[in-house]
Amino acid sequence: MTDFTPRFLKDYQPAPYQIHTVDLYIELDDERTLVRNQMQIKRHGDADENEPLVLDGQHMELQGLWLNGEALNASRYQCDEQSLTITHCPQAFTLTIETLVNPKANTALEGIYKSGGAFCTQCEAEGFRRISYFLDRPDVMAIYTTTIVADKDKYPYLLANGNCIERRDLERGRHLVTWHDPFQKPCYLFALVAGDFDLLEDRFVTQSGREVALQLFVDKGNLDKARFAMQALQDSMAWDERVFGLEYDLDIYMIVAVDFFNMGAMENKGLNIFNSKFVLADQRSATDDDFFNVQAVIGHEYFHNWTGNRITCRDWFQLSLKEGLTVFRDQQFSADMHQPDVTRISNVRLLRAQQFAEDAGPMAHPIRPEKVVEMNNFYTLTVYEKGAEVIRMLHTLLGEQGFQRGMKEYIARHDGQAVTCDDFIAAMAAANDTDLQQFSLWYSQVGTPQVEATSNYDANSGSLTLTVEQRPASGQQHPPLLIPIGYELLAQDSKKVMHKGVLSLTQTTQQFTFEQLNEQPVVVLLTGFSAPVKLHFSQCEDELMTIMVHADDGFSRWEATQILFRQCIAHYYQDESFSLADSLSRAFADILDAEVEPAFKALQITLPGFAEMTEFLQDVEPQQLLNALSRFKLDLLGKQQAKLQAMYQACDQKLQSGEGHGAGYRALKNACLEYLVQGQSFDTEVTAQYQKASNMTEKIAALQVAASENLPCFEALNRDFFAQWQDDSLVMDKWFSIQARIEDDAVFERLEGLLNHPKFSMRNPNRARALIGSFAVHNPKYFHHASGRGYDWLTDQIVKLDAINPQVASRLITPLIQTQGFASSVQETMRKRLQRLQQLDDISADIGEKINAALV
Ligand code: PHE
Ligand code: ZN
Repeated sequence: MTDFTPRFLKDYQPAPYQIHTVDLYIELDDERTLVRNQMQIKRHGDADENEPLVLDGQHMELQGLWLNGEALNASRYQCDEQSLTITHCPQAFTLTIETLVNPKANTALEGIYKSGGAFCTQCEAEGFRRISYFLDRPDVMAIYTTTIVADKDKYPYLLANGNCIERRDLERGRHLVTWHDPFQKPCYLFALVAGDFDLLEDRFVTQSGREVALQLFVDKGNLDKARFAMQALQDSMAWDERVFGLEYDLDIYMIVAVDFFNMGAMENKGLNIFNSKFVLADQRSATDDDFFNVQAVIGHEYFHNWTGNRITCRDWFQLSLKEGLTVFRDQQFSADMHQPDVTRISNVRLLRAQQFAEDAGPMAHPIRPEKVVEMNNFYTLTVYEKGAEVIRMLHTLLGEQGFQRGMKEYIARHDGQAVTCDDFIAAMAAANDTDLQQFSLWYSQVGTPQVEATSNYDANSGSLTLTVEQRPASGQQHPPLLIPIGYELLAQDSKKVMHKGVLSLTQTTQQFTFEQLNEQPVVVLLTGFSAPVKLHFSQCEDELMTIMVHADDGFSRWEATQILFRQCIAHYYQDESFSLADSLSRAFADILDAEVEPAFKALQITLPGFAEMTEFLQDVEPQQLLNALSRFKLDLLGKQQAKLQAMYQACDQKLQSGEGHGAGYRALKNACLEYLVQGQSFDTEVTAQYQKASNMTEKIAALQVAASENLPCFEALNRDFFAQWQDDSLVMDKWFSIQARIEDDAVFERLEGLLNHPKFSMRNPNRARALIGSFAVHNPKYFHHASGRGYDWLTDQIVKLDAINPQVASRLITPLIQTQGFASSVQETMRKRLQRLQQLDDISADIGEKINAALV
């Protein structure tokens, strides 16, 4: 029976024992890997001497156990499925444990497993307990020495954390390598890799003049696809020195790319392990978005070296301490490497489309969760993305200098420690001599707060009064938060910015007055998306159009167009005979005509999607919403076809002449394409785009629209694409994703065929996500088919996947548990499938926790 007992933040207790050193000797074997773990352990000063030592451990076979070198008598210990308990321990002792694990049978991809021909590990959050019995919690920090033994031909590279201190050949074709990591760390940062790779090497000289060897290990034949990631690593290292004054601390930094990985990447000390999707990229096979993400994830994992590794989390409830902060750091890095506005808008779109839904759904939790059944379920958009928004608010309130002062204080106080979110806030407050008591409520509140604003201008006195009110998300209660609200006041005539700044909303209702204005300004609120809230501030079309062109803040210019679009889509949704107002068509034309960066324009003309719109409407009937979205797009095209076509061609020309940054023009070209393929024949152009493209961004966009619009050219392009890329695993993920998005009545038969396709494997998380996840998220028409067949199909796949890899199954179940926002009949149909899952024996804690939350 699965254990669904939750753990609570309020129950935290320090560990009664500390493990100071860990000496691992690991003999790798596909099915019988031997792990000898020798630890120096001390009882905590305050702990009772009768306190037993309870070590975590799962999926292992205990082979031997020695205390201070002597085999332990069976009466002194007890072993079950979850733990090893040792009684009557001395105050300080050496414990040696020998266990066997089976990497080949490990399909959950936690602990030691095989990816392709290589051995690798994944220990965060609680995977080390599948390698050896241990106090598997982040506040137990030790110094690790790791010896690996394996066949030399098959596994010429044997890697672990830290510096290599020994290397020699053994009998029977085996070799041995020993690594020592001089920094103490929690076991979730332990890593080991053994395999045969191509190696890309380079170096980085730190600001203090130390030379660091950089090594990137990839599957054979992929060296050229690793060069961009190497550059991104060097850029990250330089950026962290320049902006945060933080320098790398070991002599070597290694990154290994593997095809089988549950998440994006992992920041193991000195030995990052990456999903190959976030390492490998070249123009032919990767899109511009892929390049952006590779750089962002390389940065993210590198930045963890300080925010995560040197200073880690006391317990897993504090996950946002490292993740929220590190996401904020990687967002700032990306903003500096690209266009800040465009980067910021992408962050906000992700937050709104996905985190807001999580915040409104059954698994809603504070950025610092208080109750957890399965920790893997809390690597969420809330902890990561909303967590980063909370850090960003601090940055806004304290300013860059104040924020950096706080960071310095945080590091000075806590380097080498496992700490809490409160410790972080306390350091920030102390360094800035300010009180962040109220601000810290952001760590415990749940849901997306609502902010309502009204403005009142008094022409006689020339004063403008803003009345701003905050309230918790529906069904939630908490005292008023400190909400920074960025603003601009624009002059009506000159369109110049008269005032700008940040208002601190601290009360439930508050007024802000601006005096001595000689005209009524246009008010821009929440500039830069200064807080993760839903803002209600009604503004007329004219005001929005002024903001759209004249606001200083890029996010606000984009947001003004989005508000116009959202309002219009809502009209289409509510009224089947609604058609486009001339004013909106003109606004759209203005956007197309404006002299702005192509990447920015691409975002401005991209309509809010299905997920974003369900957030803004109530009791959504999915098919009706999809219908509204497509009618709106079609009407915009009908009114502005000539301009869109001209823009499409202009971008094409720029690209051919190699002018400027290609990525912006490609984004704009593809955004135009999305319109141009609607309800008319664009078959020839799509085929031409596909055939001419020398980069994946244009190629995949052509294939994608051909699929989603059922263009006659699709079959031929699809076959061509498959033939060309069938041996490239990352590109095949794209291919599977496109197949899942085809919108026609044969979809369910097609999905069955794809499950049995020779290139499909449930065991590869990227592949499972590409097919199953894409269908559930990007094919709303059939996922939300009124018959419920879409939900059934997802449910069937979840059942299969849960037996193989619960963590991946649990991510993919998200679209089924987020029933909120839909009409009650839709919710009922979805819930029936969840009930079916709930009644099965032996579902994992991962999906069980979510299903139980959704069905209460
Ligand atoms: N800590 C990783 C990151 O955010 C994510 C991760 C979590 C990877 C759990 C694997 C397992 O960079
Ligand atoms: Zn992270």
